[in-house]
Amino acid sequence: MTKILMDMDPGIDDAAALSVALNHPDLDIKLVTTVAGNVTVDKTTINALKIINFFNQGDQVRVAAGAVQPLIKPFEDAARIHGESGMRGYDFTGSLPDPLEETAVEAMHRVIMASDEPITLVPTGSYTNVALLFSQYPEVKTKIEKIVAMGGTLGRGNMTSAAEFNVFTDPHAAQVMYQAGVPIVMVGLDVTHKALLTNETLQEIEGMNPAGKMLHDIISSDGDKNENGVAMHDVNTIFYLLHPEFMTTKDYWIDVQTEGPANGETVADIRGAYHDGKTNAQVCVDIDAQAFNDWFKEQVQAMKM
Ligand code: BDR
Ligand code: CA
Repeated sequence: MTKILMDMDPGIDDAAALSVALNHPDLDIKLVTTVAGNVTVDKTTINALKIINFFNQGDQVRVAAGAVQPLIKPFEDAARIHGESGMRGYDFTGSLPDPLEETAVEAMHRVIMASDEPITLVPTGSYTNVALLFSQYPEVKTKIEKIVAMGGTLGRGNMTSAAEFNVFTDPHAAQVMYQAGVPIVMVGLDVTHKALLTNETLQEIEGMNPAGKMLHDIISSDGDKNENGVAMHDVNTIFYLLHPEFMTTKDYWIDVQTEGPANGETVADIRGAYHDGKTNAQVCVDIDAQAFNDWFKEQVQAMKM
Protein backbone atom coordinates (compact mmCIF):
# COMPACT_ATOMS: atom_id res chain seq x y z
CA MET A 1 0.00 0.00 0.00
CA THR A 2 1.50 3.36 -1.02
CA LYS A 3 0.97 6.14 1.52
CA ILE A 4 0.16 9.37 -0.25
CA LEU A 5 -0.55 12.96 0.62
CA MET A 6 -2.62 14.76 -2.03
CA ASP A 7 -2.20 18.53 -2.33
CA MET A 8 -4.74 19.95 -4.75
CA ASP A 9 -6.99 22.72 -6.10
CA PRO A 10 -10.20 20.90 -7.16
CA GLY A 11 -10.86 21.57 -9.97
CA ILE A 12 -12.56 18.98 -12.15
CA ASP A 13 -9.49 16.87 -12.93
CA ASP A 14 -8.26 17.09 -9.32
CA ALA A 15 -11.69 15.78 -8.27
CA ALA A 16 -11.37 12.88 -10.71
CA ALA A 17 -7.86 12.08 -9.41
CA LEU A 18 -9.12 12.16 -5.83
CA SER A 19 -12.07 9.90 -6.73
CA VAL A 20 -9.75 7.29 -8.20
CA ALA A 21 -7.30 7.46 -5.29
CA LEU A 22 -10.05 7.21 -2.65
CA ASN A 23 -11.26 4.01 -4.24
CA HIS A 24 -7.97 2.30 -5.01
CA PRO A 25 -6.99 -0.56 -2.68
CA ASP A 26 -3.24 0.06 -3.19
CA LEU A 27 -3.36 3.72 -2.15
CA ASP A 28 -3.64 4.97 1.40
CA ILE A 29 -4.46 8.69 1.44
CA LYS A 30 -3.01 10.02 4.72
CA LEU A 31 -4.15 13.61 4.14
CA VAL A 32 -5.66 15.94 1.55
CA THR A 33 -4.51 19.55 1.51
CA THR A 34 -5.87 22.35 -0.62
CA VAL A 35 -4.42 25.40 -2.29
CA ALA A 36 -5.67 28.39 -4.28
CA GLY A 37 -5.48 27.61 -7.97
CA ASN A 38 -8.36 26.74 -10.21
CA VAL A 39 -10.53 28.77 -7.78
CA THR A 40 -9.98 30.31 -4.34
CA VAL A 41 -8.87 28.03 -1.51
CA ASP A 42 -12.20 28.24 0.35
CA LYS A 43 -13.82 26.75 -2.77
CA THR A 44 -11.11 24.14 -3.46
CA THR A 45 -11.45 23.00 0.17
CA ILE A 46 -15.23 22.62 -0.16
CA ASN A 47 -14.77 20.72 -3.42
CA ALA A 48 -12.31 18.27 -1.86
CA LEU A 49 -14.74 17.71 1.01
CA LYS A 50 -17.61 17.16 -1.45
CA ILE A 51 -15.74 14.37 -3.22
CA ILE A 52 -14.62 12.71 0.02
CA ASN A 53 -18.17 12.95 1.37
CA PHE A 54 -19.58 11.52 -1.87
CA PHE A 55 -17.55 8.38 -1.22
CA ASN A 56 -18.46 8.39 2.51
CA GLN A 57 -14.84 8.66 3.61
CA GLY A 58 -15.09 11.85 5.68
CA ASP A 59 -14.03 10.06 8.87
CA GLN A 60 -10.91 8.49 7.36
CA VAL A 61 -9.59 11.10 4.93
CA ARG A 62 -9.20 14.57 6.42
CA VAL A 63 -8.72 17.86 4.60
CA ALA A 64 -6.58 20.83 5.66
CA ALA A 65 -6.92 24.16 3.89
CA GLY A 66 -3.73 25.76 2.64
CA ALA A 67 -2.35 28.83 0.92
CA VAL A 68 -4.82 31.52 -0.15
CA GLN A 69 -2.37 32.96 -2.67
CA PRO A 70 0.95 32.24 -4.36
CA LEU A 71 4.23 33.12 -2.61
CA ILE A 72 4.86 36.31 -4.56
CA LYS A 73 2.79 36.51 -7.74
CA PRO A 74 -0.80 37.84 -7.57
CA PHE A 75 -3.44 35.09 -7.67
CA GLU A 76 -5.30 34.39 -10.93
CA ASP A 77 -7.91 31.61 -11.05
CA ALA A 78 -9.06 29.26 -13.84
CA ALA A 79 -12.81 29.53 -13.26
CA ARG A 80 -13.30 29.88 -17.02
CA ILE A 81 -12.37 26.17 -17.33
CA HIS A 82 -13.76 24.71 -14.08
CA GLY A 83 -16.74 27.02 -13.41
CA GLU A 84 -17.25 29.58 -10.63
CA SER A 85 -17.50 26.82 -7.99
CA GLY A 86 -14.43 25.08 -9.43
CA MET A 87 -16.39 21.86 -9.91
CA ARG A 88 -19.48 22.66 -11.95
CA GLY A 89 -21.87 20.15 -13.49
CA TYR A 90 -23.14 18.10 -10.53
CA ASP A 91 -25.34 18.84 -7.53
CA PHE A 92 -23.65 17.34 -4.47
CA THR A 93 -26.04 16.79 -1.56
CA GLY A 94 -25.55 16.20 2.16
CA SER A 95 -23.71 18.14 4.84
CA LEU A 96 -19.96 18.21 4.54
CA PRO A 97 -17.37 17.06 7.08
CA ASP A 98 -15.35 19.85 8.71
CA PRO A 99 -11.83 20.55 7.52
CA LEU A 100 -9.03 20.24 10.09
CA GLU A 101 -8.32 23.29 12.21
CA GLU A 102 -4.62 23.06 11.36
CA THR A 103 -3.28 24.75 8.24
CA ALA A 104 -2.21 22.56 5.33
CA VAL A 105 1.48 23.04 6.19
CA GLU A 106 0.97 22.14 9.86
CA ALA A 107 -1.04 19.05 8.94
CA MET A 108 1.46 17.96 6.27
CA HIS A 109 4.30 18.29 8.75
CA ARG A 110 2.45 16.33 11.44
CA VAL A 111 1.38 13.52 9.11
CA ILE A 112 4.74 13.14 7.39
CA MET A 113 6.74 13.12 10.64
CA ALA A 114 4.33 10.66 12.30
CA SER A 115 4.40 8.18 9.44
CA ASP A 116 6.38 4.99 9.95
CA GLU A 117 6.91 4.71 6.19
CA PRO A 118 8.00 7.36 3.69
CA ILE A 119 5.17 9.34 2.11
CA THR A 120 4.64 10.11 -1.56
CA LEU A 121 3.50 13.69 -2.17
CA VAL A 122 1.05 14.18 -5.04
CA PRO A 123 0.59 17.88 -5.78
CA THR A 124 -1.96 18.62 -8.50
CA GLY A 125 -2.32 22.36 -7.93
CA SER A 126 0.31 25.06 -7.62
CA TYR A 127 3.13 24.09 -5.27
CA THR A 128 2.69 26.90 -2.73
CA ASN A 129 1.97 24.58 0.23
CA VAL A 130 4.88 22.31 -0.72
CA ALA A 131 7.29 25.25 -0.90
CA LEU A 132 6.10 26.60 2.46
CA LEU A 133 6.42 23.13 3.99
CA PHE A 134 10.01 22.71 2.77
CA SER A 135 10.97 26.21 3.92
CA GLN A 136 9.42 25.91 7.39
CA TYR A 137 10.10 22.22 8.07
CA PRO A 138 13.07 21.05 5.97
CA GLU A 139 13.29 17.89 8.12
CA VAL A 140 10.28 16.45 6.25
CA LYS A 141 12.37 16.04 3.10
CA THR A 142 14.07 12.88 4.31
CA LYS A 143 10.69 11.30 5.03
CA ILE A 144 9.32 11.89 1.53
CA GLU A 145 9.76 8.98 -0.86
CA LYS A 146 9.13 11.12 -3.90
CA ILE A 147 6.92 13.84 -5.34
CA VAL A 148 4.67 12.95 -8.27
CA ALA A 149 3.56 16.38 -9.44
CA MET A 150 1.20 17.43 -12.19
CA GLY A 151 2.56 20.52 -13.84
CA GLY A 152 5.02 21.95 -16.28
CA THR A 153 5.79 21.13 -19.88
CA LEU A 154 8.81 20.64 -22.10
CA GLY A 155 6.69 21.74 -25.05
CA ARG A 156 4.00 24.37 -25.33
CA GLY A 157 2.19 25.78 -22.32
CA ASN A 158 -1.51 26.17 -21.68
CA MET A 159 -1.32 29.61 -20.03
CA THR A 160 1.34 31.18 -22.21
CA SER A 161 3.26 29.61 -25.06
CA ALA A 162 5.81 28.61 -22.40
CA ALA A 163 3.99 27.95 -19.12
CA GLU A 164 1.60 25.35 -17.76
CA PHE A 165 -1.10 26.53 -15.29
CA ASN A 166 0.12 25.00 -11.98
CA VAL A 167 3.65 26.30 -12.47
CA PHE A 168 2.44 29.60 -13.96
CA THR A 169 0.23 30.16 -10.89
CA ASP A 170 3.20 30.04 -8.49
CA PRO A 171 6.53 29.81 -10.31
CA HIS A 172 8.52 30.76 -7.21
CA ALA A 173 7.02 27.83 -5.31
CA ALA A 174 7.79 25.53 -8.24
CA GLN A 175 11.42 26.63 -8.22
CA VAL A 176 11.65 25.92 -4.46
CA MET A 177 10.18 22.45 -5.02
CA TYR A 178 12.52 21.60 -7.90
CA GLN A 179 15.54 22.72 -5.88
CA ALA A 180 14.57 20.82 -2.73
CA GLY A 181 16.63 17.71 -3.41
CA VAL A 182 13.60 15.40 -3.15
CA PRO A 183 13.05 12.98 -6.10
CA ILE A 184 10.40 14.44 -8.44
CA VAL A 185 8.36 12.90 -11.22
CA MET A 186 7.08 15.67 -13.48
CA VAL A 187 3.73 14.72 -14.98
CA GLY A 188 3.26 17.61 -17.37
CA LEU A 189 1.37 18.57 -20.50
CA ASP A 190 3.79 16.44 -22.55
CA VAL A 191 1.76 13.43 -21.43
CA THR A 192 -1.56 14.85 -20.23
CA HIS A 193 -2.31 16.39 -23.63
CA LYS A 194 -1.53 13.04 -25.30
CA ALA A 195 -3.80 10.94 -23.10
CA LEU A 196 -7.13 12.68 -23.57
CA LEU A 197 -10.07 11.01 -21.91
CA THR A 198 -12.12 10.32 -25.02
CA ASN A 199 -15.78 11.19 -25.45
CA GLU A 200 -16.44 7.42 -25.83
CA THR A 201 -14.89 6.79 -22.41
CA LEU A 202 -16.97 9.61 -20.97
CA GLN A 203 -20.14 8.13 -22.44
CA GLU A 204 -19.30 4.67 -21.08
CA ILE A 205 -18.75 5.80 -17.50
CA GLU A 206 -22.03 7.71 -17.33
CA GLY A 207 -24.14 4.58 -16.94
CA MET A 208 -21.71 2.50 -14.88
CA ASN A 209 -22.75 3.51 -11.37
CA PRO A 210 -23.49 6.71 -9.35
CA ALA A 211 -19.78 7.60 -9.23
CA GLY A 212 -19.57 7.24 -13.01
CA LYS A 213 -22.58 9.53 -13.40
CA MET A 214 -21.04 12.15 -11.07
CA LEU A 215 -17.67 12.01 -12.85
CA HIS A 216 -19.34 12.11 -16.26
CA ASP A 217 -21.28 15.22 -15.27
CA ILE A 218 -18.34 17.19 -13.87
CA ILE A 219 -15.90 16.11 -16.60
CA SER A 220 -18.43 17.00 -19.30
CA SER A 221 -18.49 20.53 -17.83
CA ASP A 222 -14.75 21.02 -18.30
CA GLY A 223 -14.25 24.12 -20.43
CA ASP A 224 -11.37 22.46 -22.31
CA LYS A 225 -13.48 19.54 -23.62
CA ASN A 226 -13.63 19.29 -27.41
CA GLU A 227 -14.52 16.75 -30.12
CA ASN A 228 -11.47 14.62 -29.23
CA GLY A 229 -12.18 14.45 -25.50
CA VAL A 230 -10.64 16.26 -22.56
CA ALA A 231 -7.30 16.21 -20.74
CA MET A 232 -7.66 14.83 -17.22
CA HIS A 233 -4.26 16.21 -16.27
CA ASP A 234 -4.28 15.42 -12.55
CA VAL A 235 -5.51 11.84 -13.00
CA ASN A 236 -2.22 11.12 -14.79
CA THR A 237 -0.35 11.41 -11.47
CA ILE A 238 -2.36 8.51 -10.04
CA PHE A 239 -1.98 6.56 -13.28
CA TYR A 240 1.80 7.02 -13.07
CA LEU A 241 1.89 5.96 -9.40
CA LEU A 242 0.06 2.73 -10.14
CA HIS A 243 1.24 2.07 -13.70
CA PRO A 244 4.59 3.69 -14.46
CA GLU A 245 5.08 1.06 -17.17
CA PHE A 246 2.63 2.97 -19.40
CA MET A 247 4.76 6.13 -19.34
CA THR A 248 8.19 6.91 -20.75
CA THR A 249 10.37 9.17 -18.62
CA LYS A 250 13.63 11.04 -19.14
CA ASP A 251 15.90 12.39 -16.43
CA TYR A 252 16.62 16.12 -16.61
CA TRP A 253 17.44 19.03 -14.38
CA ILE A 254 14.38 21.29 -14.36
CA ASP A 255 14.64 25.00 -13.62
CA VAL A 256 11.64 27.29 -13.42
CA GLN A 257 11.53 30.76 -14.93
CA THR A 258 10.22 33.24 -12.37
CA GLU A 259 9.98 36.45 -14.38
CA GLY A 260 9.42 37.92 -17.80
CA PRO A 261 7.41 36.60 -20.73
CA ALA A 262 8.49 33.00 -20.02
CA ASN A 263 7.41 33.23 -16.35
CA GLY A 264 6.41 29.74 -15.21
CA GLU A 265 8.32 27.89 -17.93
CA THR A 266 9.90 24.59 -16.84
CA VAL A 267 13.27 24.50 -18.59
CA ALA A 268 15.00 21.14 -18.98
CA ASP A 269 18.79 21.15 -19.12
CA ILE A 270 18.75 18.65 -21.98
CA ARG A 271 22.49 18.94 -22.66
CA GLY A 272 23.45 18.66 -19.00
CA ALA A 273 25.25 21.96 -19.50
CA TYR A 274 24.20 23.97 -16.45
CA HIS A 275 24.16 21.46 -13.58
CA ASP A 276 27.27 19.31 -14.15
CA GLY A 277 25.14 16.61 -15.74
CA LYS A 278 23.05 16.23 -12.57
CA THR A 279 19.30 15.77 -12.76
CA ASN A 280 16.48 16.65 -10.35
CA ALA A 281 13.45 15.15 -12.07
CA GLN A 282 12.12 12.25 -14.02
CA VAL A 283 10.04 13.91 -16.71
CA CYS A 284 7.17 11.97 -18.26
CA VAL A 285 7.52 12.39 -22.01
CA ASP A 286 5.22 9.73 -23.43
CA ILE A 287 2.12 7.78 -22.39
CA ASP A 288 -0.08 4.97 -23.66
CA ALA A 289 -3.34 6.87 -24.16
CA GLN A 290 -5.41 3.74 -24.80
CA ALA A 291 -4.13 2.13 -21.60
CA PHE A 292 -5.02 5.32 -19.71
CA ASN A 293 -8.61 5.24 -20.98
CA ASP A 294 -9.00 1.50 -20.29
CA TRP A 295 -7.57 1.90 -16.79
CA PHE A 296 -9.80 4.89 -16.02
CA LYS A 297 -12.91 2.94 -17.01
CA GLU A 298 -11.83 0.03 -14.78
CA GLN A 299 -11.34 2.43 -11.88
CA VAL A 300 -14.80 3.92 -12.27
CA GLN A 301 -16.39 0.50 -12.64
CA ALA A 302 -14.90 -0.49 -9.25
CA MET A 303 -15.99 2.67 -7.40
CA LYS A 304 -18.27 2.26 -4.39
CA MET A 305 -20.14 4.90 -2.44
C1 BDR B 1 -3.56 21.90 -14.41
O1 BDR B 1 -4.20 23.16 -14.27
C2 BDR B 1 -5.41 22.99 -13.57
O2 BDR B 1 -6.39 23.81 -14.13
C3 BDR B 1 -5.74 21.54 -13.62
O3 BDR B 1 -6.49 21.16 -12.48
C4 BDR B 1 -4.40 20.87 -13.68
O4 BDR B 1 -3.88 20.63 -12.40
C5 BDR B 1 -3.35 21.62 -15.88
O5 BDR B 1 -2.54 22.61 -16.48
CA1 CA C 1 -5.29 20.83 -10.46
